Amino acid sequence: MPIKYIPEKQIWVITTDLTDYVIGVDAEGILQHVYWGGKQPLLLDYMDLPKSIEHPGGGPIGPHRDEIMPWGGLRFTEPGIKLTFSDHIRDLHLIYDRHELLNSDQLVIYLKDTLKPLTVKLNYKVIKEYDLIERYVEIVNEGTEGLQIEQLMGAIWHLPVYPEYRLTYLAGLSRGETQVRTEWIQEGKKVLESRHGRTSHQFNPWFAIDFGQTTEEYGDVYFGAIAFSGNWKIVIEKTPYQTLQVATGFNDFDFGWTLKPGEILRSPICIGGFTAKGFGEASRQMHRYQKKYILRNGHKVRKVMYNSWYATEFDVTEEGQRRLAEQAAKLGVELFVVDDGWFGARDHDRAGLGDWFPNKRKFPKGLHPLIQHVKSLGMDFGIWVEPEMVNRDSDLYRSHPDWVYRFPGRRNTEQRNQLVLNLSRPDVEEYIFSMLDDLLSNHEIDYIKWDMNRSFSEPGWPEAPPEHHKEIWVRHVLGVYRILERLQRKHPHVAFESCSGGGARIDLGIMRYIDNVWPSDNTDPFDRLFIQEGYTYAYNTKAMLCWVTDVPDENNLRTTTLKYRFHSAMIGSLGIGLNLNKCSELELQECKKYIRQYKEIRPIIQDGDLYRILSPRSSYGAAFQYVSPDRSRSVLFVFRHRQQFRHPFPPIQLRGLDPEAVYLCRQLGIKRSGTSLMTRGISLDLRGDYASELIVFEKDINY
Ligand code: DGJ
Repeated sequence: MPIKYIPEKQIWVITTDLTDYVIGVDAEGILQHVYWGGKQPLLLDYMDLPKSIEHPGGGPIGPHRDEIMPWGGLRFTEPGIKLTFSDHIRDLHLIYDRHELLNSDQLVIYLKDTLKPLTVKLNYKVIKEYDLIERYVEIVNEGTEGLQIEQLMGAIWHLPVYPEYRLTYLAGLSRGETQVRTEWIQEGKKVLESRHGRTSHQFNPWFAIDFGQTTEEYGDVYFGAIAFSGNWKIVIEKTPYQTLQVATGFNDFDFGWTLKPGEILRSPICIGGFTAKGFGEASRQMHRYQKKYILRNGHKVRKVMYNSWYATEFDVTEEGQRRLAEQAAKLGVELFVVDDGWFGARDHDRAGLGDWFPNKRKFPKGLHPLIQHVKSLGMDFGIWVEPEMVNRDSDLYRSHPDWVYRFPGRRNTEQRNQLVLNLSRPDVEEYIFSMLDDLLSNHEIDYIKWDMNRSFSEPGWPEAPPEHHKEIWVRHVLGVYRILERLQRKHPHVAFESCSGGGARIDLGIMRYIDNVWPSDNTDPFDRLFIQEGYTYAYNTKAMLCWVTDVPDENNLRTTTLKYRFHSAMIGSLGIGLNLNKCSELELQECKKYIRQYKEIRPIIQDGDLYRILSPRSSYGAAFQYVSPDRSRSVLFVFRHRQQFRHPFPPIQLRGLDPEAVYLCRQLGIKRSGTSLMTRGISLDLRGDYASELIVFEKDINY
C-alpha cells in the first residue's frame, strides 16, 4: 500500500519505491510535516512530530512545519492560504477533520476552520514508480457568505534541516530560455515567478534543491514543479532557524478570487520528488512520469517536421508552400506545418490576428489544394494559430473592441502590435473554440501549432463585477485548457504544439494538452545546447522540438556545419526550418542522410533515458547520451565548443549501460563491455571548433 495510516498516532506515511513522505496531526489538531526523503526501515522511525523552537523568554517562535501554512497565529513564512471572510476576519485556523483514501494511491485530508464554515482539502497522489507526489489544495466555502481568497498555493514543501542548501532553477529570456542557474540559499526568500499571464521566458516553474554536494549522478536532490501556465510563484525560504520551505502555486500578485457559498477553488497541481541519485536521476524521473502520465500521446512517435517560418516568414503563398513541401517530402519529412502568414490580412505582424480564414490572394481556393498536395506527398498537414490574440487592424477587433483586456480610459499597451483577448469571458472562450472547431472540421488538419506571442498588460475586465477582476490570471488559463480539451475530444487525431514567442509556455499544465513544445525561437545549434540542457532538467525531450535552420544564424551570426546543426537538433524531436529552395543538391542529400539516421535512432531518443554526460556550460564541450529502456542500444551526441593547442577531446564515460553486456560500436570499430565504456570511457578524435559526433552503441547479443 503506497499510503499507510497509523490511527493511534494520526500519522500518514506516503510511500514511493524509494522514498517516504510523512505527515501527522499534532496535539492541537494541526497538520504537520514530519519527514520527506529516502525510506527509513521502520514505521516507528516516523512517530515523533517535529518540535517548535522555543523563545528563550517562553513560547514558540517557530518555525511551523505546517503542511499547508494557512495565514494565522504565529506563522510568519510564506503562506499557503490567505483569505478574508465576509465579516473581515482575515486569518485561518485549520484543524484536522477527517481523511479519505482513494484507489490506494490518493489521500485527501480535510481540514476545517475552527470558527467558520470552511473546508480545505489537501490532495495527495503517489506516483510510486517515479518517486513523485502530486499535491493540490481545494478551498470549499460551506458558508452562506462569499469570501475573498488572496493566496492559494498547491503545496508547501518542507526540507530536512541541513547546514547548507543550494538552489538550481531555470532562468532566461526570449531566445535564451531555460538556462540552468545554481546558487547558495541564504536566509530570506528567493522568489521565482511569472507575472506575465503566461508561464514566461524569464523563469520556469521548476526548482531543485540539494545540500551543496550533489552531482549529476550522486547525492540527494529535492525537486518540484507547478502544473500551471499562467501567473505562478515558487518561494524558497530559509528561516534564521535553518529550516527551508518551498511554497509553490498561484502567484498572489494582483490575484484575488471571490468564492461564493458552495463554490470551490482548486490550486494548480504541484509535483515534488526526491532522489538520492543526483540531478540526472531527478530529471529522468520527471521525464518518465511526463511520458507516462502527463504528455499528450506520450507513447506515440514524434514525426519529423518541416516548418515554414524561418524560410518564408509572412511571405506564405500556396505556390511557395507547395515547393517547400515537395522538397521536404523528398528528404523524408513526415509532417509539414504552415506557420504564421496564411490568414486574414497577415502580410506582417501589424494586421490579421483574429481573422482565421485563408488570405484570398495567397490561397485563392482556400487551404484545401495545399492540404491535398501535402497529403499526396505522404505527409501530415499542420497549421499555425494564435487564438488568444488580436491585432487592432483585424475584422475581429473592429467588431469586438470590448473583447480585449483593458482598463477603460487607459492606453492599451501593445506588444508585437497585438492585444490579448479576454478569455475570462465565456463568450470569447466560446468564440475561440468555435473558430478552431470550424477550422478543424472543415479541413484535413493533423497538427495545430498554438502560439501566444505576448505577455499581459492592462489586465482589466470592465464588464465583470469588480470582485471578479483579479480572477483573470487564473480564469484565462483555465479557458485555454478548456478549449484545448474540447477540441481534443472532438478532434482526437489532431496533435498540438505549445509555442509562446519561443518557450514562454513550457510547463506541466499545458503539457497535458499538447504533443510538442517549442523551447525557443533561438535555433542557433550552439546556443540551443544550453537552452536544451536546461529544458531537460525539468522536461522530457520527446516533446522538445528542435529545428535545423539556415546559417549564418540570425541571433549570433554564427555559421556551423549542417552536421553540427543536425546533431544539436537530433537531441530532441527533429524538425527542419531551412529554406529548402535555397539549399544545394549536396546539402539536400546531406539532410536526407541525417533524417534517415534520426528515424533509425528515434526510438532510443524519444523513448529512452537521457544522461547528461557533459554540460555545455563546461569550457570545452557537451555530451548527451540516450539509452533504450532495455539497455540494448545507446546514442551518444558529443559537441566540441572549440579546440586550442591541438588538445585532444577528453575521454567520455558513458552511463546507463548494462555493465555485464558487450556493446558494439561500428563507427569506432570497437567492441567493449558496458563496464569499460562506463569507466575507462571512449576517446574521440573530435577536432576543430563547433565539431560534433553522433555515435551508436548496440548490445552484441552473440557475445
Ligand atoms: C513566434 C514563434 O515562436 C515562431 O516559431 C513563429 O511561429 C512566430 N511566432 C510566428 O509569428
